[in-house]
Amino acid sequence: MSEARASVAESPLKTLRRLLQLGRPYWFWYVGLVLGTMAMAGLEVLAMDAVKRMINAATSKSMQLLIEGIVIGLAGFLGSEVIAFFVSYFGELLNHISVMRLQTKLVSKLTRAKMEALQEYHSGDVIARINDSANAAQAGLNSQIRQVLHQALSVIFYMAYLVHLDRALSVGTLALSILMPAIVTPLSKKLRELYTAQHQAHARKNSFIQDSVQGSEVVRAFSLSQRLSQKFRAIYDEILGYSRRIVLLNVVVGHTQFVVIIGGILFVLGYGGLRVARGILDLGSVVVFLFCFERVAWPLSQLVRTWPELQNSIVQAGRAFELFDLPEESYLPERIETERVDGMSSADLASSIRVSGRAGIEMEGVRFAYSEGQDVLKGFSLTVEPGKMTALVGPSGSGKSTVLKLILRLYEPTEGRILCQGIPIDEMTVSDWRSLTGYVSQDPYLFSGTLMENIRYGRLEASDDEVIEAAKAANIHDFIMSTPDGYQTKIGERGVRLSGGQRQRVSIARALLKDPLILILDEPTSSLDSESELAVQQALDRLMAGRTTIVVAHRLSTIRDADKIVYLEDGEIQEVGTHMQLMAARGKYHRMYQALLLDRELQDDQKMASYEIDSLEGVMA
Ligand SMILES: Nc1ncnc2c1ncn2[C@@H]1O[C@H](COP(=O)(O)OP(=O)(O)OP(=O)(O)O)[C@@H](O)[C@H]1O
Ligand SMILES: [Mg+2]
Repeated sequence: MSEARASVAESPLKTLRRLLQLGRPYWFWYVGLVLGTMAMAGLEVLAMDAVKRMINAATSKSMQLLIEGIVIGLAGFLGSEVIAFFVSYFGELLNHISVMRLQTKLVSKLTRAKMEALQEYHSGDVIARINDSANAAQAGLNSQIRQVLHQALSVIFYMAYLVHLDRALSVGTLALSILMPAIVTPLSKKLRELYTAQHQAHARKNSFIQDSVQGSEVVRAFSLSQRLSQKFRAIYDEILGYSRRIVLLNVVVGHTQFVVIIGGILFVLGYGGLRVARGILDLGSVVVFLFCFERVAWPLSQLVRTWPELQNSIVQAGRAFELFDLPEESYLPERIETERVDGMSSADLASSIRVSGRAGIEMEGVRFAYSEGQDVLKGFSLTVEPGKMTALVGPSGSGKSTVLKLILRLYEPTEGRILCQGIPIDEMTVSDWRSLTGYVSQDPYLFSGTLMENIRYGRLEASDDEVIEAAKAANIHDFIMSTPDGYQTKIGERGVRLSGGQRQRVSIARALLKDPLILILDEPTSSLDSESELAVQQALDRLMAGRTTIVVAHRLSTIRDADKIVYLEDGEIQEVGTHMQLMAARGKYHRMYQALLLDRELQDDQKMASYEIDSLEGVMA
């Protein structure tokens, strides 16, 4: 990741080009802004000329010159102010519109990006890229480029005007003006490096804060709070270190500029005064030089300051664009239509399966690795009968969830095929395929929002009644009704106010509402208390009834009910059969089942024991 970032920083021109491309739909706004900025700079110079006329009017006591000066001055000042108003208004508006467009594009990209590519990034980093980087990128495009343009035009127009007034004095003025950026540029370069480092540290800090919030239970359970505080302090010290140097450099830069300005004023007054005394120059021009010196020197040094800021924005834009470059899940209907001999489209294939109501799944020689060279599945083959329940069991890390993720097409196999009713599932678009599947994950994610919304994610067009019906079937209705606002109760990030069993039932309700042909279920490893276990079990039974179900099973009851049990180890199938067959075979499954049973009895014993102790204590008291 850091390499990618570095490569982005190395080709700012490419990023700038993409940034400009992004603004293409608004090109007429930009043309307007550029023209406005040019007019503004021109009118400012005109106003200066009015100052010259007015002062010369005073020294030569010419009423005519004074009136000319006033008229030109008013036109120049007022004109440039009116234009400045429009330029600022539309410039800022464009900025907001562009940020919104960029962020919308990024969010939509994220929902299509391949999981394995996205997982390389910490979620906090992704969020920072969408929020801060997209903001900075657009600020760069819209306000900094505009500033750079204004500053550059000011310098050019003013210098042209000054050369016209007095060549000798203008050469001196320009030389002194250049002194400023000459001193400031190297410092600015250093500043830019510091800004980049500081941004990276900030991103790390954000990821860290997010971990601390989302992992708050782990932090408490393992008493990690002190260790985390230390780590946080270290990151903060680093950020502070950068800030200290940034502030120092900024102050040095500011004061250098001040000294140069004073020097310039003295030069114009001294040398200009001399030329007035010699009769080469009029007083009005000297005063104009005095004004203009600042107006050349400032934009010049501002230019030098804005430039690194613009570069910083480009670095930020690069961070945002990196997300655009993530590979996407394959939504390739064109390829599919041309390749199939029967000319059936992805949607046709999906609906043919849906209409047949049968969805058997076949995995043939599937090979898959999360990271190259480390195969999790090595030529995996499995048949899932339509309408039947197939349970995957096996030790932790054996690849059970991975099989599910491949069927869901969260990942694509590196070798082999997955078929549904004989149709390779990758001949359908991901969305067509997923219209047939429902998924209840090991750790169901609830979105921030209401309970009603969370269940409705199963089928967006479902009515309130249908949602409630699903909730009832999932045994979660009574709980929902006991919350303060019922279905309108809001839940926080990751559904913090719901227990594990409740979250599962909400996610079962979601799947029930979707009513998919194929159900993909990853049972949580954590055991629930027996009451919620029963509630979840009932809900699951209703959900699985009559559907092709592939379940990673951890609960004894689910395993026993399965039509077919597949025992996995190290990504390879060791045993296949019904519960009875596998028990009779007395192999690995038999051993696992005995262990589960023992575990279950132990838990029950413990519960019993603690109950007895409780009641004993009750009696003693
Ligand atoms: N996102 C991922 N990136 C890299 N490796 C992963 C990822 N997810 C799983 N793995 C690895 O793949 C292997 C199989 O993991 P998988 O989640 O399929 O196991 P599992 O059988 O579902 O285990 P459990 O019963 O604990 O849920 C493990 O070695 C795991 O470390
Ligand atoms: Mg798993």
